[in-house]
Amino acid sequence: MIEVRRDVSLGHYNTLALPASAAAFVEVSDDAGLPRALEWAAQHELPVLPLGEGSNVVLVGEQQALLLRLSTSGVEELERGPEHVLLRVAAGQRWHPFVAWTLAQGFCGLENLALIPGTVGAAPIQNIGAYGVELSHCLVAVHALRVADGAALTLAAQDCRLGYRDSVFKHELCDQLLITAVDLRLATRAQTHTAYPALRDHLDAHGLGEPTPQQVFDAVVAIRRARLPDPAREPNAGSFFKNPVLEAAQAQALQARFAGLPGYPQDDGRVKLPAAWLIEHCGFKGRRRGAVRVHREHALVLVNDGAGRGEELLALAREIAAQVADTFAIELEIEPRVYGAAA
Ligand code: FAD
Ligand code: EPU
Repeated sequence: MIEVRRDVSLGHYNTLALPASAAAFVEVSDDAGLPRALEWAAQHELPVLPLGEGSNVVLVGEQQALLLRLSTSGVEELERGPEHVLLRVAAGQRWHPFVAWTLAQGFCGLENLALIPGTVGAAPIQNIGAYGVELSHCLVAVHALRVADGAALTLAAQDCRLGYRDSVFKHELCDQLLITAVDLRLATRAQTHTAYPALRDHLDAHGLGEPTPQQVFDAVVAIRRARLPDPAREPNAGSFFKNPVLEAAQAQALQARFAGLPGYPQDDGRVKLPAAWLIEHCGFKGRRRGAVRVHREHALVLVNDGAGRGEELLALAREIAAQVADTFAIELEIEPRVYGAAA
Protein backbone atom coordinates (compact mmCIF):
# COMPACT_ATOMS: atom_id res chain seq x y z
CA MET A 1 0.00 0.00 0.00
CA ILE A 2 1.18 3.49 -0.75
CA GLU A 3 -0.49 6.64 0.48
CA VAL A 4 -0.27 9.56 -1.93
CA ARG A 5 -1.09 12.97 -0.50
CA ARG A 6 -1.93 16.09 -2.49
CA ASP A 7 -0.52 19.63 -2.14
CA VAL A 8 2.02 18.85 0.52
CA SER A 9 4.24 21.52 2.04
CA LEU A 10 7.93 20.63 1.64
CA GLY A 11 9.43 23.00 4.22
CA HIS A 12 10.34 20.08 6.51
CA TYR A 13 11.67 17.96 3.66
CA ASN A 14 14.60 20.13 2.61
CA THR A 15 17.52 21.20 4.80
CA LEU A 16 17.34 24.77 3.43
CA ALA A 17 13.79 24.89 4.88
CA LEU A 18 12.52 26.52 1.67
CA PRO A 19 8.74 26.91 1.54
CA ALA A 20 7.94 24.81 -1.55
CA SER A 21 5.06 22.40 -2.10
CA ALA A 22 4.45 19.23 -4.11
CA ALA A 23 1.38 18.53 -6.24
CA ALA A 24 1.62 14.95 -4.95
CA PHE A 25 3.77 13.36 -2.24
CA VAL A 26 4.42 9.80 -1.16
CA GLU A 27 6.81 8.40 1.42
CA VAL A 28 7.89 4.85 0.65
CA SER A 29 9.55 2.70 3.30
CA ASP A 30 9.45 -0.73 1.64
CA ASP A 31 10.81 -1.86 -1.73
CA ALA A 32 7.41 -3.14 -2.86
CA GLY A 33 6.02 0.39 -2.67
CA LEU A 34 8.56 1.82 -5.12
CA PRO A 35 7.13 0.35 -8.39
CA ARG A 36 3.63 1.22 -7.15
CA ALA A 37 4.63 4.83 -6.70
CA LEU A 38 6.07 4.91 -10.23
CA GLU A 39 2.83 3.40 -11.59
CA TRP A 40 0.80 6.04 -9.74
CA ALA A 41 2.88 8.82 -11.25
CA ALA A 42 2.51 7.36 -14.77
CA GLN A 43 -1.27 7.04 -14.34
CA HIS A 44 -1.52 10.64 -13.19
CA GLU A 45 0.95 11.88 -15.82
CA LEU A 46 3.24 13.45 -13.26
CA PRO A 47 7.03 13.35 -13.35
CA VAL A 48 8.72 11.69 -10.39
CA LEU A 49 11.00 13.69 -8.13
CA PRO A 50 12.96 11.32 -5.86
CA LEU A 51 13.96 12.85 -2.55
CA GLY A 52 16.09 11.55 0.28
CA GLU A 53 16.77 13.99 3.12
CA GLY A 54 16.58 17.02 0.83
CA SER A 55 20.10 18.14 1.80
CA ASN A 56 21.21 18.91 -1.76
CA VAL A 57 18.18 20.52 -3.38
CA VAL A 58 16.89 24.05 -3.87
CA LEU A 59 13.10 23.86 -4.12
CA VAL A 60 11.40 26.85 -5.69
CA GLY A 61 7.62 27.14 -5.54
CA GLU A 62 5.14 24.39 -6.38
CA GLN A 63 6.62 21.20 -7.79
CA GLN A 64 4.32 19.73 -10.45
CA ALA A 65 5.53 16.23 -9.67
CA LEU A 66 5.05 13.20 -7.49
CA LEU A 67 7.63 13.79 -4.82
CA LEU A 68 8.81 10.33 -3.82
CA ARG A 69 10.53 10.37 -0.48
CA LEU A 70 12.61 7.26 0.09
CA SER A 71 12.85 5.87 3.59
CA THR A 72 13.61 2.24 2.79
CA SER A 73 16.28 0.75 5.05
CA GLY A 74 18.39 -2.35 5.50
CA VAL A 75 21.86 -3.70 4.88
CA GLU A 76 22.57 -7.13 3.40
CA GLU A 77 25.99 -8.81 3.48
CA LEU A 78 26.46 -10.28 -0.02
CA GLU A 79 29.99 -11.62 0.27
CA ARG A 80 32.92 -11.74 2.66
CA GLY A 81 36.49 -12.37 1.59
CA PRO A 82 39.72 -12.42 3.61
CA GLU A 83 40.13 -8.65 3.30
CA HIS A 84 36.78 -7.25 2.26
CA VAL A 85 33.05 -7.36 2.65
CA LEU A 86 30.45 -6.57 -0.01
CA LEU A 87 27.29 -4.88 1.28
CA ARG A 88 23.98 -4.05 -0.40
CA VAL A 89 22.42 -1.01 1.25
CA ALA A 90 18.87 0.24 0.75
CA ALA A 91 18.60 3.66 -0.90
CA GLY A 92 16.58 5.26 1.89
CA GLN A 93 19.10 4.34 4.61
CA ARG A 94 20.50 7.45 6.28
CA TRP A 95 24.17 7.89 5.31
CA HIS A 96 25.85 8.93 8.57
CA PRO A 97 24.26 6.28 10.84
CA PHE A 98 25.19 3.71 8.19
CA VAL A 99 28.83 4.88 8.20
CA ALA A 100 28.88 4.64 12.03
CA TRP A 101 27.41 1.12 11.79
CA THR A 102 30.11 -0.04 9.32
CA LEU A 103 32.83 1.01 11.74
CA ALA A 104 31.12 -0.79 14.62
CA GLN A 105 31.25 -3.95 12.47
CA GLY A 106 34.99 -3.46 11.85
CA PHE A 107 34.49 -2.46 8.19
CA CYS A 108 36.45 0.52 6.96
CA GLY A 109 36.55 2.81 3.95
CA LEU A 110 33.77 5.27 4.71
CA GLU A 111 35.16 7.00 7.82
CA ASN A 112 36.29 10.13 5.91
CA LEU A 113 32.69 10.52 4.70
CA ALA A 114 31.27 10.74 8.24
CA LEU A 115 28.54 13.27 9.03
CA ILE A 116 27.55 13.95 5.40
CA PRO A 117 23.77 14.44 5.58
CA GLY A 118 21.45 12.51 3.27
CA THR A 119 20.65 9.01 2.12
CA VAL A 120 22.65 6.16 0.64
CA GLY A 121 20.62 6.33 -2.59
CA ALA A 122 21.60 9.96 -3.21
CA ALA A 123 25.30 9.29 -2.61
CA PRO A 124 26.12 8.17 -6.21
CA ILE A 125 24.24 11.12 -7.76
CA GLN A 126 27.06 13.52 -7.00
CA ASN A 127 29.65 10.94 -5.92
CA ILE A 128 29.76 12.36 -2.40
CA GLY A 129 33.21 13.23 -1.21
CA ALA A 130 35.05 14.74 1.73
CA TYR A 131 38.45 14.75 3.39
CA GLY A 132 40.26 12.97 0.57
CA VAL A 133 37.76 10.15 -0.11
CA GLU A 134 34.87 9.83 -2.56
CA LEU A 135 32.11 7.26 -2.82
CA SER A 136 33.83 6.04 -6.02
CA HIS A 137 36.54 4.47 -3.80
CA CYS A 138 34.14 1.76 -2.64
CA LEU A 139 31.14 1.77 -4.99
CA VAL A 140 30.62 -1.54 -6.83
CA ALA A 141 27.13 -1.18 -8.31
CA VAL A 142 23.93 0.85 -8.29
CA HIS A 143 20.51 -0.81 -8.48
CA ALA A 144 17.59 1.18 -9.83
CA LEU A 145 14.12 1.17 -11.33
CA ARG A 146 13.58 2.95 -14.63
CA VAL A 147 11.03 5.69 -13.99
CA ALA A 148 9.46 5.34 -17.45
CA ASP A 149 8.42 1.68 -17.10
CA GLY A 150 9.53 0.41 -13.69
CA ALA A 151 12.11 -1.98 -15.19
CA ALA A 152 14.83 -3.02 -12.72
CA LEU A 153 18.42 -2.51 -13.78
CA THR A 154 21.93 -2.55 -12.36
CA LEU A 155 24.81 -0.27 -13.28
CA ALA A 156 28.38 -1.30 -12.54
CA ALA A 157 30.41 1.44 -10.86
CA GLN A 158 32.44 2.12 -14.02
CA ASP A 159 29.20 2.83 -15.91
CA CYS A 160 28.21 5.48 -13.35
CA ARG A 161 31.05 7.75 -14.67
CA LEU A 162 31.77 9.16 -11.25
CA GLY A 163 33.81 12.36 -11.09
CA TYR A 164 34.16 15.32 -8.78
CA ARG A 165 30.56 16.01 -7.67
CA ASP A 166 29.45 14.34 -10.89
CA SER A 167 28.00 11.14 -12.37
CA VAL A 168 25.98 9.79 -15.28
CA PHE A 169 22.89 10.44 -13.10
CA LYS A 170 23.41 14.19 -13.66
CA HIS A 171 23.71 13.76 -17.43
CA GLU A 172 22.36 11.01 -19.75
CA LEU A 173 20.43 9.33 -16.95
CA CYS A 174 19.21 12.53 -15.29
CA ASP A 175 15.66 12.05 -13.93
CA GLN A 176 15.41 8.62 -15.53
CA LEU A 177 16.19 6.32 -12.61
CA LEU A 178 15.02 5.73 -9.09
CA ILE A 179 18.01 4.32 -7.23
CA THR A 180 16.84 1.51 -4.94
CA ALA A 181 20.10 0.14 -3.49
CA VAL A 182 23.84 0.53 -3.66
CA ASP A 183 26.57 -2.16 -3.40
CA LEU A 184 29.70 -1.12 -1.52
CA ARG A 185 32.97 -2.95 -1.03
CA LEU A 186 34.62 -2.19 2.31
CA ALA A 187 37.88 -3.38 3.85
CA THR A 188 37.85 -5.72 6.83
CA ARG A 189 41.49 -4.87 7.70
CA ALA A 190 42.12 -1.40 9.05
CA GLN A 191 43.50 1.08 6.54
CA THR A 192 43.13 4.83 6.57
CA HIS A 193 43.40 7.85 4.25
CA THR A 194 44.82 10.75 6.20
CA ALA A 195 46.64 12.89 3.62
CA TYR A 196 43.94 15.61 3.38
CA PRO A 197 45.65 18.62 5.02
CA ALA A 198 42.90 19.63 7.46
CA LEU A 199 42.50 16.01 8.58
CA ARG A 200 46.27 15.45 8.92
CA ASP A 201 46.63 18.66 10.95
CA HIS A 202 43.79 17.66 13.29
CA LEU A 203 45.21 14.16 13.82
CA ASP A 204 48.73 15.51 14.41
CA ALA A 205 47.41 18.06 16.90
CA HIS A 206 45.88 15.15 18.82
CA GLY A 207 49.03 13.02 18.67
CA LEU A 208 47.42 10.48 16.32
CA GLY A 209 50.26 9.62 13.91
CA GLU A 210 48.71 6.28 12.98
CA PRO A 211 45.01 6.59 13.74
CA THR A 212 42.46 3.78 13.68
CA PRO A 213 39.51 4.14 11.27
CA GLN A 214 37.35 5.05 14.28
CA GLN A 215 39.79 7.83 15.20
CA VAL A 216 39.62 9.15 11.62
CA PHE A 217 35.81 9.06 11.84
CA ASP A 218 35.92 10.98 15.15
CA ALA A 219 38.36 13.53 13.69
CA VAL A 220 36.20 14.12 10.60
CA VAL A 221 33.11 14.57 12.80
CA ALA A 222 34.97 17.09 14.99
CA ILE A 223 36.32 19.07 11.99
CA ARG A 224 32.93 19.18 10.28
CA ARG A 225 31.13 20.27 13.48
CA ALA A 226 33.62 23.12 13.86
CA ARG A 227 33.45 24.25 10.22
CA LEU A 228 29.97 23.66 8.87
CA PRO A 229 26.68 24.98 10.25
CA ASP A 230 24.10 22.42 11.44
CA PRO A 231 21.10 22.66 9.06
CA ALA A 232 18.74 22.07 12.00
CA ARG A 233 19.83 25.44 13.44
CA GLU A 234 20.93 27.33 10.33
CA PRO A 235 19.13 25.86 7.29
CA ASN A 236 21.63 25.20 4.48
CA ALA A 237 22.61 22.74 1.75
CA GLY A 238 26.33 22.49 2.47
CA SER A 239 28.57 23.89 -0.28
CA PHE A 240 26.39 25.98 -2.59
CA PHE A 241 28.91 25.99 -5.46
CA LYS A 242 31.37 23.41 -6.75
CA ASN A 243 35.04 24.20 -6.45
CA PRO A 244 36.20 25.20 -9.95
CA VAL A 245 38.85 23.00 -11.59
CA LEU A 246 41.10 24.94 -13.99
CA GLU A 247 43.90 24.18 -16.39
CA ALA A 248 47.20 24.55 -14.50
CA ALA A 249 48.33 27.59 -16.55
CA GLN A 250 45.08 29.48 -15.83
CA ALA A 251 45.27 28.65 -12.12
CA GLN A 252 48.92 29.77 -11.94
CA ALA A 253 48.11 33.05 -13.69
CA LEU A 254 45.38 33.75 -11.12
CA GLN A 255 47.65 32.80 -8.24
CA ALA A 256 50.25 35.25 -9.57
CA ARG A 257 47.62 38.03 -9.57
CA PHE A 258 45.87 37.17 -6.31
CA ALA A 259 48.27 36.61 -3.45
CA GLY A 260 47.27 33.80 -1.12
CA LEU A 261 44.85 32.07 -3.52
CA PRO A 262 45.21 28.35 -2.67
CA GLY A 263 45.30 25.71 -5.43
CA TYR A 264 45.01 21.94 -5.13
CA PRO A 265 46.64 19.94 -7.99
CA GLN A 266 44.44 17.09 -9.27
CA ASP A 267 45.52 13.71 -10.68
CA ASP A 268 44.84 14.90 -14.24
CA GLY A 269 47.21 17.87 -13.90
CA ARG A 270 44.45 20.45 -13.47
CA VAL A 271 44.13 22.56 -10.33
CA LYS A 272 41.11 22.90 -8.03
CA LEU A 273 40.55 26.33 -6.49
CA PRO A 274 38.47 26.84 -3.34
CA ALA A 275 35.26 28.64 -4.33
CA ALA A 276 35.00 29.77 -0.69
CA TRP A 277 38.21 31.80 -1.10
CA LEU A 278 36.99 33.42 -4.33
CA ILE A 279 33.65 34.34 -2.70
CA GLU A 280 35.31 35.63 0.46
CA HIS A 281 37.73 37.70 -1.61
CA CYS A 282 34.73 39.33 -3.32
CA GLY A 283 33.53 40.45 0.10
CA PHE A 284 30.48 38.24 0.42
CA LYS A 285 31.31 36.39 3.63
CA GLY A 286 28.52 37.11 6.13
CA ARG A 287 26.63 39.30 3.63
CA ARG A 288 22.85 39.29 4.00
CA ARG A 289 20.08 39.82 1.46
CA GLY A 290 16.74 39.86 3.31
CA ALA A 291 16.19 36.47 4.94
CA VAL A 292 19.11 34.75 3.18
CA ARG A 293 22.82 35.20 3.76
CA VAL A 294 26.32 33.92 3.22
CA HIS A 295 27.54 32.14 6.33
CA ARG A 296 29.82 34.20 8.54
CA GLU A 297 32.40 31.44 8.97
CA HIS A 298 32.19 29.60 5.64
CA ALA A 299 31.75 31.62 2.46
CA LEU A 300 30.61 28.60 0.43
CA VAL A 301 27.52 28.01 2.56
CA LEU A 302 24.32 29.97 1.95
CA VAL A 303 21.86 30.09 4.83
CA ASN A 304 18.11 30.64 4.98
CA ASP A 305 17.22 32.34 8.24
CA GLY A 306 13.75 30.79 8.12
CA ALA A 307 11.56 33.06 6.05
CA GLY A 308 13.69 32.97 2.89
CA ARG A 309 12.38 31.71 -0.45
CA GLY A 310 14.15 29.80 -3.19
CA GLU A 311 14.07 32.81 -5.54
CA GLU A 312 15.89 34.98 -2.97
CA LEU A 313 18.53 32.35 -2.41
CA LEU A 314 19.11 31.98 -6.15
CA ALA A 315 19.27 35.78 -6.57
CA LEU A 316 22.04 35.89 -3.96
CA ALA A 317 23.80 32.98 -5.70
CA ARG A 318 23.60 34.84 -9.04
CA GLU A 319 24.99 38.00 -7.45
CA ILE A 320 27.92 36.04 -6.03
CA ALA A 321 28.58 34.19 -9.30
CA ALA A 322 28.51 37.46 -11.30
CA GLN A 323 31.03 39.11 -8.97
CA VAL A 324 33.33 36.06 -9.03
CA ALA A 325 33.10 35.99 -12.85
CA ASP A 326 33.98 39.72 -13.02
CA THR A 327 36.90 39.41 -10.65
CA PHE A 328 38.45 36.06 -11.63
CA ALA A 329 36.85 35.18 -15.01
CA ILE A 330 35.61 31.93 -13.43
CA GLU A 331 32.04 30.66 -13.87
CA LEU A 332 30.91 29.11 -10.58
CA GLU A 333 28.55 26.16 -10.88
CA ILE A 334 25.76 25.67 -8.36
CA GLU A 335 26.20 22.33 -6.58
CA PRO A 336 22.69 21.44 -5.28
CA ARG A 337 19.98 20.50 -7.79
CA VAL A 338 17.55 23.35 -8.42
CA TYR A 339 13.87 22.44 -8.94
CA GLY A 340 11.16 24.82 -10.10
CA ALA A 341 13.33 27.64 -11.47
CA ALA A 342 16.23 28.22 -13.78
CA ALA A 343 19.50 28.17 -11.81
P1 FAD B 1 18.45 14.93 -1.78
O1 FAD B 1 18.84 16.32 -1.46
O2 FAD B 1 17.16 14.44 -1.28
O3 FAD B 1 18.52 14.71 -3.36
C1 FAD B 1 19.61 15.21 -4.09
C2 FAD B 1 19.44 14.80 -5.56
O4 FAD B 1 19.53 13.38 -5.68
C3 FAD B 1 18.06 15.19 -6.12
O5 FAD B 1 18.22 15.50 -7.48
C4 FAD B 1 17.25 13.91 -5.96
O6 FAD B 1 16.19 13.79 -6.91
C5 FAD B 1 18.32 12.84 -6.21
N1 FAD B 1 18.04 11.59 -5.49
C6 FAD B 1 18.01 11.42 -4.15
N2 FAD B 1 17.75 10.12 -3.88
C7 FAD B 1 17.59 9.49 -5.05
C8 FAD B 1 17.29 8.14 -5.43
N3 FAD B 1 17.12 7.18 -4.51
N4 FAD B 1 17.19 7.84 -6.75
C9 FAD B 1 17.36 8.80 -7.70
N5 FAD B 1 17.65 10.08 -7.41
C10 FAD B 1 17.77 10.41 -6.09
N6 FAD B 1 28.03 16.47 -0.07
C11 FAD B 1 29.27 15.96 -0.29
O7 FAD B 1 29.52 15.31 -1.31
N7 FAD B 1 30.27 16.14 0.64
C12 FAD B 1 30.08 16.81 1.77
O8 FAD B 1 31.00 16.93 2.57
C13 FAD B 1 28.79 17.35 2.03
N8 FAD B 1 28.55 18.05 3.17
C14 FAD B 1 27.31 18.58 3.39
C15 FAD B 1 27.11 19.29 4.58
C16 FAD B 1 25.86 19.84 4.85
C17 FAD B 1 25.65 20.61 6.14
C18 FAD B 1 24.80 19.66 3.93
C19 FAD B 1 23.45 20.23 4.24
C20 FAD B 1 25.01 18.96 2.75
C21 FAD B 1 26.27 18.41 2.46
N9 FAD B 1 26.53 17.70 1.28
C22 FAD B 1 27.77 17.15 1.06
C23 FAD B 1 25.49 17.53 0.26
C24 FAD B 1 24.52 16.34 0.55
O9 FAD B 1 24.61 15.93 1.87
C25 FAD B 1 24.79 15.15 -0.38
O10 FAD B 1 24.66 15.55 -1.73
C26 FAD B 1 23.82 13.99 -0.12
O11 FAD B 1 24.22 12.87 -0.86
C27 FAD B 1 22.37 14.34 -0.46
O12 FAD B 1 21.54 13.31 0.04
P2 FAD B 1 19.96 13.53 0.17
O13 FAD B 1 19.37 12.20 0.52
O14 FAD B 1 19.69 14.64 1.10
O15 FAD B 1 19.61 13.93 -1.31
N1 EPU C 1 38.16 29.09 2.61
C1 EPU C 1 38.08 30.46 2.53
N2 EPU C 1 37.03 31.09 3.14
C2 EPU C 1 36.07 30.41 3.81
C3 EPU C 1 36.16 28.99 3.90
C4 EPU C 1 37.22 28.35 3.27
O1 EPU C 1 38.91 31.11 1.95
O2 EPU C 1 35.14 31.04 4.31
C5 EPU C 1 39.26 28.43 1.88
C6 EPU C 1 40.41 28.00 2.75
O3 EPU C 1 41.59 28.22 2.02
C7 EPU C 1 40.22 26.48 2.88
C8 EPU C 1 39.60 26.15 1.55
O4 EPU C 1 38.77 27.26 1.24
O5 EPU C 1 41.42 25.83 3.09
C9 EPU C 1 38.77 24.88 1.53
O6 EPU C 1 37.77 24.95 2.55
P1 EPU C 1 37.17 23.62 3.19
O7 EPU C 1 38.28 22.73 3.67
O8 EPU C 1 36.11 24.00 4.15
O9 EPU C 1 36.57 22.84 1.95
P2 EPU C 1 35.67 23.33 0.75
O10 EPU C 1 36.50 23.27 -0.48
O11 EPU C 1 34.94 24.59 1.04
C10 EPU C 1 34.95 20.89 0.11
C11 EPU C 1 33.64 20.26 -0.23
C12 EPU C 1 32.89 19.93 1.04
C13 EPU C 1 33.72 18.94 1.85
C14 EPU C 1 35.08 19.59 2.18
C15 EPU C 1 36.03 18.62 2.86
C16 EPU C 1 33.00 21.07 -2.41
C17 EPU C 1 32.09 21.95 -3.20
N3 EPU C 1 32.86 21.13 -1.08
O12 EPU C 1 34.61 22.13 0.73
O13 EPU C 1 31.65 19.33 0.70
O14 EPU C 1 33.08 18.59 3.06
O15 EPU C 1 35.72 20.03 0.96
O16 EPU C 1 36.50 17.69 1.94
O17 EPU C 1 33.78 20.33 -2.99
C18 EPU C 1 29.36 19.80 0.21
O18 EPU C 1 29.55 19.27 -0.90
O19 EPU C 1 28.24 20.23 0.54
C19 EPU C 1 30.47 19.92 1.14
C20 EPU C 1 30.36 20.49 2.34
